[in-house]
Amino acid sequence: MKVAIIGAGNVGAMVASRVVDANLADVTLVDVAPGIAKGKALDISDARPVFNSTSNITGTENFADIQDSDIIVITAGLARKPGMSREDLIKKNTDIIKEVAMQIKKYCPSPIVIVVTNPLDEMSYLVMKTTGFSPRKVIGMAGVLDTARFINALWEKNQGVEQDKVMMMGSHGDTMVSINRSENISPEMFFETSKLARNRGAEIVKHLGTGSAYFAPSASVFFMLKAIIKNENKTLCASAYLNGQYGEKDIYIGVPVILNSSGIKEVIEIPLTSEEKSQFQKSAHQIRENITKILQ
Ligand code: NAI
Ligand code: 2OP
Repeated sequence: MKVAIIGAGNVGAMVASRVVDANLADVTLVDVAPGIAKGKALDISDARPVFNSTSNITGTENFADIQDSDIIVITAGLARKPGMSREDLIKKNTDIIKEVAMQIKKYCPSPIVIVVTNPLDEMSYLVMKTTGFSPRKVIGMAGVLDTARFINALWEKNQGVEQDKVMMMGSHGDTMVSINRSENISPEMFFETSKLARNRGAEIVKHLGTGSAYFAPSASVFFMLKAIIKNENKTLCASAYLNGQYGEKDIYIGVPVILNSSGIKEVIEIPLTSEEKSQFQKSAHQIRENITKILQ
């Protein structure tokens, strides 16, 4: 199994390291910045004896080296700076993602693509449209991360929760929609922890001063890669193409899906309360406005 990771920055390199350390797949790490991918790949490779891993990793500036990869992870682009919203990244990352998508199409006929670059839902849409790949094979990573942040915020408040009772749907942005199906969580606790989770990315950016989160994001990508490579039929949240589900069409947005070696096997439609429905529609509206901007 060959995984190509585009962008050898914080998220890309950390995903590569997790995949090789776990002996999950061979990795090709690509970055346009000279030397970065090569240097990091050598460093990651040196840890193989420590983890007893036989996975190979190479670093390159040449897209031709991703030829025939089974799965592509796109992390190329700019990360947020303090005070910058994910949407601010739209223009800069649109140009990068279009170019990357065309290179992927040139060298890989039918891969599964996991998009990480922000703004996530809009960039996932752009990759699907630019490559022409099946929407089931182009998947955005955000729901695993945002749901993990939500659960962790509950844990930090000593609030136990069954992991399948809460999740984050909607956009990977300020309009993300927190869902609670646990009777143990009070409305106050739900409000407070969903706000903490929603703002976690910005909180981390503020502390770091430069760059954004990458430990939990790379863990979330790894979780999705494992579900695909090991054909786990895993239910998780991801940005997926909707064609009528949840009353939305021609949009990428966070929803629960079943993920396996074919990509998205199924978008799961859970019943939403009227409040959740209206928040989800608001989120979809925001993504649609942004998509209009990137298509201009
Ligand atoms: P980073 O700045 O550390 O790395 C980005 C890398 O992309 C750089 O090394 C840069 O040289 C490379 N790059 C730029 N243009 C390229 C091209 N055309 N081809 C190949 N490589 C190219 O950024 P980081 O922290 O790794 O984040 C990457 C992206 O992921 C950002 O847009 C960030 O906002 C997003 N992100 C999304 C998350 C999510 O939940 N979806 C979570 C964390 C980050
Ligand atoms: C995050 O949520 C930057 O989208 C990234 O941390």
